[in-house]
Amino acid sequence: MFYEIYVPSFCDGNGDGIGDLKGVISRIPYLRQLGISGIWLTPFYPSPKADNGYDISDYRDVDPDYGTLEDFDMLLHRAHEAGIRVIIDMVLNHTSHLHPWFEESRSSARSPYRDYYLWEKEIPNNWESFFDGSAWTYDESAGLYYYHAFSREQVCLNWSSGQVWRECRDILRFWLDRGVDGFRLDVINFLKTDRAALSVDNPVENGGTRHVYDKNQKGIYEALGKISETVHAYPHKYLLGEIGEDDLYLIKSYVGPGLLDSAFQFNLGSMEKLDIAYMADQMRKMEAEGVYPTLFFSSHDMRRHFNRLCGLDPGKAKLLAMFLLTARGIPFLYQGEEIPLEDVPVDRPEDLKDIQGRYGYEKKLREGADEKAAFQYARERARDYSRGMVDWQRAGEQEENSLHSVYRRLLEIRKRLPSLTLGTYGEIRQQDGLLYYQRIWEQERVGVYLQFGEKPLEAPCKDVLFEVRDERGKLKGLLVCE
Ligand code: GLC
Ligand code: CA
Repeated sequence: MFYEIYVPSFCDGNGDGIGDLKGVISRIPYLRQLGISGIWLTPFYPSPKADNGYDISDYRDVDPDYGTLEDFDMLLHRAHEAGIRVIIDMVLNHTSHLHPWFEESRSSARSPYRDYYLWEKEIPNNWESFFDGSAWTYDESAGLYYYHAFSREQVCLNWSSGQVWRECRDILRFWLDRGVDGFRLDVINFLKTDRAALSVDNPVENGGTRHVYDKNQKGIYEALGKISETVHAYPHKYLLGEIGEDDLYLIKSYVGPGLLDSAFQFNLGSMEKLDIAYMADQMRKMEAEGVYPTLFFSSHDMRRHFNRLCGLDPGKAKLLAMFLLTARGIPFLYQGEEIPLEDVPVDRPEDLKDIQGRYGYEKKLREGADEKAAFQYARERARDYSRGMVDWQRAGEQEENSLHSVYRRLLEIRKRLPSLTLGTYGEIRQQDGLLYYQRIWEQERVGVYLQFGEKPLEAPCKDVLFEVRDERGKLKGLLVCE
């Protein structure tokens, strides 16, 4: 299991109002006490922070806002001492437009760095960026257009170049040699591995384009194979790759020996409303496909599920915690969901900090929308909601029946019962607000009852391992030996 730490807002260790590595170190005892065995650190490298660090300008250092390399080494050391493994976010799809490679690349046609990025005389296709209009931007000094699947400050690397691969390989080794336990590879199925594919337009739908030919390109498995070989040349390393797809067959194709260890996939995570029929269906499909999924409902890219799925009902949050820690897959908790934290409000244009929201706002204004309509559009797209500073004072007030204690006790139980990690599913059913499933490993058989609706949950006469009650003392969740 992993706990996602969004570095800029997790914990401020030096009082400048920005989360940092010293802050992370100071919370290791808290994480250990909660029962966390792995953390995922979002980018902490030097960056102009157009996209909060997902635009790296130096892959081998720590941004001064977050600390120093010595702080990083200390963090690793302390985490390992506490039995916590550390994976780090690695962005190999694109660099910052201020990375020295890009500065060099744009400076001259004869630069050895020219081929590190994708340059074209004319815009070759209709591809759109995820954040703002065309994925091609004209660069004055090069006199050419460059490609960016995300913002124009995040320039896509050309993975057809052997030199790009060697640079990335050395970066991976730099961090492996420092002792990291693995990587979370950002938007990894977007690597541009096939120059020939640039001439194919994406299909146009509802006034925009659908991302089809700008991802999952020919050559991606070979690139991933080389990454995997480099990482797994070191023992016990974990390679997780973000695959923003919901096609299980495609997701599965990225995972296995010589490729990723797991895909960070959104099948359950991006659910907009709590829908247990959908959950049961996905569980069955993932089991049938042989996909061992990542399980999460919150991250730095989406609204907190305490708002989005639970409607701020702590009882529902407890049931979803039970799901995350007993369903089949790898749980990824997002910082603060155990407290629980709520979304921060985005009520005014000034609250739009995230690039996706800000660009959306500017785009709508440019297109002639009034401020209200532009803001309405942008607030849907902004990802600021879950990025507020963690309120550590609230983490201090945890009582026996709190959500925090549900996470802590279930994490304990999970370590004791192999069926919860290794087991297959037995029966999965849902009816009248109740989601029920069985986990089976050898002779061990546990049943999970989650009553999200109003119907009373009858306690079966079985050994109860754990139970959840709502504010009024009504039984809502049960974990039993069967
Ligand atoms: C990933 C990150 C997201 C970022 C994007 C581009 O999806 O999680 O925060 O904006 O990649 O790097
Ligand atoms: Ca700080």
